[in-house]
Amino acid sequence: MTDYLAHAQTLAPQMVAWRRDFHQHPELGFHEVRTAGIVAHYLQTLGIETRSGVGKTGVVGLIEGAAPGPVILLRFDMDALPVQEATGLPFASVYDGVMHACGHDAHTAIGMGVAALLAATAGSWPGRVKLLFQPAEEGLGGAAATIHDGVLVDPAPQAAFGLHLWNPYPSGHVYVQSGPIMAAADRFTIVISGRGGHGALPHTTVDAVHVAAQAVNALHTIVSRNLPPYEAAVLTVGSIQAGVAFNVIAEQAILTGTLRSFNPEVRSQMIRRMEEVLGGICAAHGASSTLTLADYTPAVDNDPQVTKWASSAAASLAPASRLGHEKPLMVAEDFAEIAGRVPSCYMLVGAAPAGGALGGHHSPHFDIDESTFPLAAALMADAAVRFLQQSAASHP
Ligand code: NI
Repeated sequence: MTDYLAHAQTLAPQMVAWRRDFHQHPELGFHEVRTAGIVAHYLQTLGIETRSGVGKTGVVGLIEGAAPGPVILLRFDMDALPVQEATGLPFASVYDGVMHACGHDAHTAIGMGVAALLAATAGSWPGRVKLLFQPAEEGLGGAAATIHDGVLVDPAPQAAFGLHLWNPYPSGHVYVQSGPIMAAADRFTIVISGRGGHGALPHTTVDAVHVAAQAVNALHTIVSRNLPPYEAAVLTVGSIQAGVAFNVIAEQAILTGTLRSFNPEVRSQMIRRMEEVLGGICAAHGASSTLTLADYTPAVDNDPQVTKWASSAAASLAPASRLGHEKPLMVAEDFAEIAGRVPSCYMLVGAAPAGGALGGHHSPHFDIDESTFPLAAALMADAAVRFLQQSAASHP
């Protein structure tokens, strides 16, 4: 087996340079034009067949191995977030209000490193590796857009790997496990409609602020009182907008929030109870409400067989003391769109900066430990080659 970690170490300065350049020039989802251009150009210099504009701004590279065989998809995300950077790093974002606050700059750099590793060893493994540099992971539907644009056909992958650096976890530790790993997410909007009026004449109105306050309290009983305690779920009301002046009773209140779950039945139950609770509260006060759900992302559920390839790669690259299992995360990841169609494994690599992270993912103070890049790149390359060699051997 090729020593991918040793090879990846030699690429470390290059991967760090790429990451810092992407970090300095972050691009929001479906606007990753500069980033995608750099990726596509680099893949072409490696002699990799490259297709741009996949799912608007995605890039797909196809590396041919030494013999016919299976196809593996490796996915890396590229987009930044609408966050004003506050890290003070010398390579901080040059754009106001846009920041790589989740580490997708690092994922893109690591993916380019993986391309170099696998292009260099393509004579030693069978099958094909499809590299997907995906746009718009941050709740914008980038994975679905690339699927719509054919990333899972011609050739169709038999398995897929994805990866996230995770800065709450210790640097250089690898987390690979089968089963659910990231939650399903829904965005909801509730509009409560009452009857506005004079702040001194409440008896002539239906106060939307008052109804909204009761609705928030009642919605929070769904997870605590309706769901079985052993089921993981979150209902968060993230914003309330209502009212215009201190002496005016509000006619309308708009609430937005998110649901997180793993079990589809739990999700259905939460939605049904939201409708019942809102209907009851509003009826009691003469108000009305609408509940709208959007941006559903399914849970990421790691396939047991594909996870075995990732686990064996992890075990060969990291000492046992650095292999971890963790509780599933309630955050969502649109890799789920791929994992729902192709047996997949999504891996986490701990990447806490020295001295601890000043800010977690999506924080203006977010940073990541760059020394983890070689391990992350080697993990993807090694897992891919293990899958290709062993599944080619078992299905000649
Ligand atoms: Ni992310």
